[in-house]
Order: sequence, then structure tokens, then C-alpha cells
Amino acid sequence: MNTSSQNYNYYKNIFKNTPMPFAFVDMDLFNKNIQDIIKRASGKKIRIASKSIRCVELIKKILSSNSIFRGVMCYHPLEAVYLSENGLDNLLIAYPFYNEQQIVAVCNEIKKGKLIIAMLDLPVHAEQLNHIAEKENCVLPICMDIDMSSDFGSLHFGVRRSKISTTEQALKLVHQIKKLKNLRLTGVMGYEAQIAGVGDLTGNFVKSFIIIILKKRSIKEIIARRANIVNTIHAQGYQLEFVNGGGTGSMESTLKESCITEIAVGSGFYAPTLFDNYSNFQHQPATAYAIEITRHPKEDIYTCFGGGYIASGAIEKSKLPKPYLPEGAKLIDTEGAGEVQTPIVYKGTEKLIVGDPIFMRHAKAGELCERFNSLYLVSDGKIVGQTKTYRGDGKCFV
Ligand SMILES: Cc1ncc(COP(=O)(O)O)c(C=O)c1O
Repeated sequence: MNTSSQNYNYYKNIFKNTPMPFAFVDMDLFNKNIQDIIKRASGKKIRIASKSIRCVELIKKILSSNSIFRGVMCYHPLEAVYLSENGLDNLLIAYPFYNEQQIVAVCNEIKKGKLIIAMLDLPVHAEQLNHIAEKENCVLPICMDIDMSSDFGSLHFGVRRSKISTTEQALKLVHQIKKLKNLRLTGVMGYEAQIAGVGDLTGNFVKSFIIIILKKRSIKEIIARRANIVNTIHAQGYQLEFVNGGGTGSMESTLKESCITEIAVGSGFYAPTLFDNYSNFQHQPATAYAIEITRHPKEDIYTCFGGGYIASGAIEKSKLPKPYLPEGAKLIDTEGAGEVQTPIVYKGTEKLIVGDPIFMRHAKAGELCERFNSLYLVSDGKIVGQTKTYRGDGKCFV
């Protein structure tokens, strides 16, 4: 995956005086990913999925790079408030929240003239948001989350999030929202996780074939369902300001839906390992972290300090970080990536010694930022900056 110039010695040399562990973003690759994502969007607007960035400076960098980027998809109400305080606007909170203090904090930003949109899919969300907004003398913009999973007989192809998957269910919630004076329905969101979050290059022909067939069938099904729901809401007199869908992995299919006005994209900018396995795109491994070889228990085995940053989700090998450079470095199956020690098997041509780095890639994009206070920014063979992650800002939203 690494370009020929960005090899082990390229990064080793850049960081020769930097204590490990540390995380970094290769801004040359990051910028290439931005440009490639712009191309993939074919003119459709992109909302930045902040959970896959978790760094204010880099979110701002993407937003200012091209007018195709419009707004942020946040994951927590207090994160939206934090980004708003940092000068950002048009903040969609993608997951429903219920806590009164958090709703009040959002209302306070809205009263300052900021656009922050709350998510809902249950009557109880609507009641609570309306109740608090009324007390705060505020009208809350809201977005309805539509379940975009496909049910094929007994196979549920997708995730379990929203209760709303049919036009009838959406209409029922719309009727309830209509009666609530302190809510304003401005958008619809539907995340087709089974298309966007499932790579089709599995390394197993039969598995890949099944995924490709299921994805094709699912795309066909969701195009019709999403359009029907959006048209029905329009017919109720709502001028929706946006219809959000997709993710990094589904840009090509999501943008073809005429009812979609914007795609949410986050992971493609850092491009972690779970996004290596898609036939529709290939982004650059812009983000990695370095761990130090501190022991050498056996020829070809180099044990490093730290490194065990496992990604969330169903437990499986793909959630482990991957040794990235030097090329050919591998984890040991029986140990994986450890809490304080990670043995690496390496039989290649680099002469590794104690004190050298092993560069690793995380399986997911934003979670790496929960492990480091800052990210080094590198370009053209040198460190060009250092920027704080949310964690470095003292913010832990999830
Ligand atoms: C609601 C929603 N939209 C979009 C995305 C896509 O984000 P990414 O581009 O980081 O895969 C996600 C990821 O989980 C999501 O939860």
C-alpha cells in the first residue's frame, strides 16, 4: 500500500529523534486522499464524519480545501458544541441523545445562531428534545435517521440502529413531529453500513462473491425505499434541507441516488486498514503510529513497547492493528498486539535493532486518536507540524 518513496527508512529518518510511541499523519497522502475523495464524489456535497478524524485542525483543513465539503457529521452533542465553539457550523449529530444537560448545551449554541441538528428515530427522542427545547425557548432543527439495512428472508444485511425502515413508520413519526412546536424537521439520514462498511476484497473468492451479490441486491432495494420515504416526507410539505447517506465505502453507489444531497465521509481521509479491501477505491495509508523495539527475544522476533490498540466492533482478526513498515512485518497469532508488549515477526532485509521503530496501522480511523494526545504532521520528508487530537484537547466524548 505504501508508495515507493514512503517506505520504512523514509519515516524512520523523519522521526529519528522522536520518542515513541507516537502517531502521525502523512499530509502528502492525506491531501491525496482529499483529492481522490473529491473526485469520487462527482460533485455531490460531502459532510465530514468527525468520528473518523477526531482532530479539530484536520477537520478544518478538509473543510477549507474545497467547497464540496459542507458541514460536519458529529457523534456527540458536546462534541458538536465543542466544534461550534471552535468556529465550525452546520453540525449534524448523527446519533440520538437523550440527556437533558446535553440538549440544553446544544440549545444554547443554537440560540447563538449556530446550526446544530439533532438526530431521532423514536417518539421518545422527539418528546424529550421538544420538551427541553420548549423550556429553553428554542426551536431545534432535527433529522430523522432511516434504517438502510436490507432484510433478505432470515438474513439481516446491515446494522441495528434506527426503528424507522418503512415509509409508513417514517410518516407516523413525521405526524408526531408536526405537532411539536419546538422541533423543525430539516433532514433525513440513512447510513447503508452493509455497503459502506463492508469491503468486498476478502481474499476468499466465495466470500467476496457473496458480498458482491448481497451488496448489489441491497443497493437496488435501498434506492427505491429511500426515494419513497424522502418523496413522502416532501409530500407532507417539508422542504428538507438535506438527505444524507453513505460513507467512505459506498460513495459510488450513494451518489447515484437522486434524492441524496450529501454523502458522509470520514475514514477515507486517514484510510485505516479496514478500508484497504474495497474494489471501488483505494486510498493512501495516511495515518500510522510507531512503537519502539525494546527487546529481541529470538532471531526474527522483535518485541516492541505498547501497540495494542484494538478497534471496536465484533471481535475478529481484522480489528487488530497491522504492522505496516517495514514491509513483511507481522504480528504473532498467539499474542496479537499487546497492552504493553507487542512481538513482531520480521524476516526481511532491514537490519532492525533495539531502539528502531515499527510502524503500525489501526483498523479504524478515529479510534487511534483516543490513544494519542497529538498527531505529528509530516510532508516531503520532514515533520511540518504537530496537532492535538480531541484527547489532547482534554475531550473524551465516547
Ligand atoms: C451515520 C454514519 N454515517 C456515515 C458513516 C461513514 O463514516 P466513514 O466514512 O468514516 O466510514 C458512519 C460510520 O460509521 C456512520 O455511522
